[in-house]
Order: sequence, then structure tokens, then C-alpha cells
Amino acid sequence: MNVSVSPGHNINGTLILPLFEGSEEVPESLEAGLHTALKGQINRILQDGDFKAKLKSTMSIVGGEGGKAMLVGLGKEDDADIHAYRKAGAAVIANRKKVHGTDLTVKFTGVSIVVMGAFSEGMLLRDYSYDHYKQQDDDEKESEIDVRITCDEGQEDELASVIKIHAGVASGVHLSRDLGNCPPNDMYPEAFADQAWEWAKDYDDVEVTIINYDQAVKAGMGGLVAVGMGSARKPCMVIFELNGKKPGRSPLLVGKGITFDTGGISLKPGANMDEMKYDMGGSATVFGTMQALAATGHKGKVVAITCMAENMPSSNAQRPGDVIKTLSGKTIEILNTDAEGRLVLSDGLWKAGEFDPEYIIDFATLTGACVVALGHEATGLWSNDDDFRTRIHEAGNAVGELAWPMPLLPAFEKEMTDSKIADTRNLGAGRWGGANTAAAFLKQFVPTRNYEKDAEQITWAHMDIAGTYWGAKTNSMVGNGATGIHVRTMYHLITNG
Ligand code: BES
Ligand code: ZN
Ligand code: ZN
Repeated sequence: MNVSVSPGHNINGTLILPLFEGSEEVPESLEAGLHTALKGQINRILQDGDFKAKLKSTMSIVGGEGGKAMLVGLGKEDDADIHAYRKAGAAVIANRKKVHGTDLTVKFTGVSIVVMGAFSEGMLLRDYSYDHYKQQDDDEKESEIDVRITCDEGQEDELASVIKIHAGVASGVHLSRDLGNCPPNDMYPEAFADQAWEWAKDYDDVEVTIINYDQAVKAGMGGLVAVGMGSARKPCMVIFELNGKKPGRSPLLVGKGITFDTGGISLKPGANMDEMKYDMGGSATVFGTMQALAATGHKGKVVAITCMAENMPSSNAQRPGDVIKTLSGKTIEILNTDAEGRLVLSDGLWKAGEFDPEYIIDFATLTGACVVALGHEATGLWSNDDDFRTRIHEAGNAVGELAWPMPLLPAFEKEMTDSKIADTRNLGAGRWGGANTAAAFLKQFVPTRNYEKDAEQITWAHMDIAGTYWGAKTNSMVGNGATGIHVRTMYHLITNG
């Protein structure tokens, strides 16, 4: 999608008219450039109460002599914040049909740059489909959508730069979705690493390092190796550094990257197992965030680590009963090979300490229990620092991506260390609180500063995106499949403090 900005009144292609609930006619300020026939038609629709402008509702007008239009509801004027504008923008793209063509002119006047930006953001985010695997004839292919936003005189430069940032961030969200939607026969650990490697070539200030299987074995990454060794597609760790040479501490993101989770020897039931291709959603979030930051020219240092493996049952696979030794030196008794995300993350989190980060945030489609707790509406959010947890929660709220505070209780940690033969166990004693026991398990692998024995742990948060990374029907920024959630939360947190 191309979005341009200008204060002119001419309408190219289909007119997009955002309206508040209760509008009885086209606002006078928006009349300029509108064909009288179209204006009359819209006024009749509004006067008859046929379009109520409820938030996210749209109505198409085609076939009239005054040109084509789409009315879009902003909801009640008093409630029309950036979230409403973003949703309305997304609704336009969700309801755009071939008949509307690819030229759209959105008419705004007398509104702030922030809300026009949010409307464009919604359009940009929603302009996504994953059809790389569909045969398409050339005449079926649609050209890129060209959107022109008409604003007031003097707003154009600032609005254009706001939209440029939204477009850069949306490219990160779309990358995350592309990675998540990619079928698991093509998205395996090395394929992800190759893609990261190729991506880094586009940016001067980005570096990607790949720790391959042999190196991971040598380094003692027992968690990553144990999960990935059952697959012919061997595991790896990918490290992304943006402005890595800059001095000082930086945010560090860690992602669970299970490119397919069969459960391993503790095999999952067959129904809907295909969905486990999204089990690399954490790594996609992290990669997408790096893209958003790089594309918008972020000048600060940011580091990311993704832990890539395919969890397969085979004669080389780990078994329930095995005891493995992780990078941290801690041993884990494997009680269920389907609790694999925490194993790869144990090495990723520990590795993070080498970068002496300001804070660590991990993203993982970690537990079905988190989906039971929060549904598809919110990500589970745990932290060893209450203020930090609040900051992330607020960053999520600011961009309309909910992350809900969850408890990191000592009792859960105790439950996870209660192994007869190892330092820790990868399964809680019972089913209850499964998302919390998983978080408590991870906490054991969060390093202290410089790995010093008695120092405080590095500030850390864990985000369980099992319910929000895909199939979230109420996420209006996406049609289906991978949502690309939290790229925007992270962009906001990292760039706005
Ligand atoms: N990848 C799954 C978690 C998951 C489940 C994500 C449903 C998205 C939707 C994870 O590896 C897993 O299998 N977790 C187990 C943990 C259990 C064995 C302690 C689970 O949630 O059942
Ligand atoms: Zn699993
Ligand atoms: Zn998993």
C-alpha cells in the first residue's frame, strides 16, 4: 500500500468518508470536491438512517453518476480515540472489494494528525494477505492500493512523516505474519536463520549471528539441542543486533521459535495439530520488531535472540525421563517432551546475560493454559519487576495490544524445582496454573548481572502469546492466521521509553 498526503480537494478513485455516529449529512467541511450527485446520495442514506456510522461499519456506494464511495463509521464522537480511528481504517481495507478499485481518497478535515495517522495505520496493518502458495493468473493479480489522505493545509508534512513511521512498523508486523503463516515444510530452523541472514544485508547497522547445531552442542546449549535433536532439521540460535557497536545497555528480546511442535515423544493429539506451525510466533515477533526498528531508522542499540528448533518424535528424540544440562549449568528432568518451549528458552535467556542488557523480554506461544486463562483477547504478562510489568502493560494499551498482568509466585517456582534427580523439572506437579508454572520455570534461567552469584536478576518479563499470536478473531488488524501481535507494543516500548 502506498499512502500519500495532500490538502487538495480532488478525489481519485473511491471516496472514503469517515463519519461519526449520528451524522445526518455530509459535514460541510468535507463537501469540497464532492460530486453533487454523490453528496445527495450520501445525504439521503444518512437521513434515512440507513448508515448509522457504528464503529467499524462500512457502506459502499457504487454505480451512481457521482463516483464510488465507502462510508466508514468512527462510532460515537466522544469515544473516537486513536484506537477507534485505527479500527475504522482497518475496516475500510477489510471491506474493500475489487469494485472499489485500488485508488482510494480518504477525506479528513479539522482532525488531528495523530488520529489521521492512526486511521492510516489501521489501513496499512490490515492490508495483508498470505497468498504465496496460491496459483494466480496475471489478470487476477491486483496492483498495490494507492491511498491519498486529504488533510488541512499545513498538516501534510507532519502527517506524511507520521505515516512513514506507521508504514515502517507495519512492515515489521507483516514480516512477523509472513514468518508465522509460512508452512512448516518451508519454515524450519535453518530457513528462519537464512532469512535473517539475508535480511541483515539490507541494513548497515544490523548484524545477524547464527549459532548452528554443532556450535550449540559445543557451547552446552542442552535445552535447545534436546528439543531439536529429534528432527532432521537441526536447531539453531539466531542473534540479531541493531546498532550493536553502540556502548551501553540495551533492550534484549528473546523468542521461542519452534517451527513445528508435534509434542515430540509426548505426542500431541492429531486434531488441529497443523496450528503448531505458529509455535515459532515468539521468534517471529522478535524478528518483526527488529524489522520495524531497522525500517524506521531506530538509532538505539537493540539485541534479539531466537531459539529455533523443530519438536519431532524420532529415534533421536529426547524422552520423558531424560535429564538434560542447560547452558546455565542447571539440569532439567524432562517429564513431558511437549513442554519444549521452556527448554529452548532456558538457553536463550541465559545467553542474554552475555549482552549485559538493560532488560530482557521473552515472547513465546508457551502454554495452552494461558489460552484457557485469557482466551484470545490478551497476552499473559509476567515479570520479576512490578514497575517494568506495568510499563509493558501500558505500552500494549497505548497501541491496542493487551498484555495482562499475571502472578510470578514463589510457590510456582517451588513446584518446578521439585525434582528427585535434577535441579528442576519441565512440568508442574499438576495441571493447574500451567501458564504460571511455565513462567516460574523460565525465571530460573534469567541471569544475574555478569552472572554474579549474589547479584540481582536482570529485569525480565515473559509474554505468553499462545492465544494472541494467531486466530484472534477479535483482532481487527488482521483477517486470519498469524496476527503479528506485539511488534507494535515493542516498538512503542523501545522508542517511547
Ligand atoms: N506450543 C505449545 C503451547 C500451545 C498450545 C500454544 C496451544 C498454542 C496453543 C507448548 O509447547 C505445549 O505443548 N505446552 C503444553 C505444556 C504442558 C505439556 C505442560 C500445554 O500447554 O499443554
Ligand atoms: Zn509443546
Ligand atoms: Zn510449543
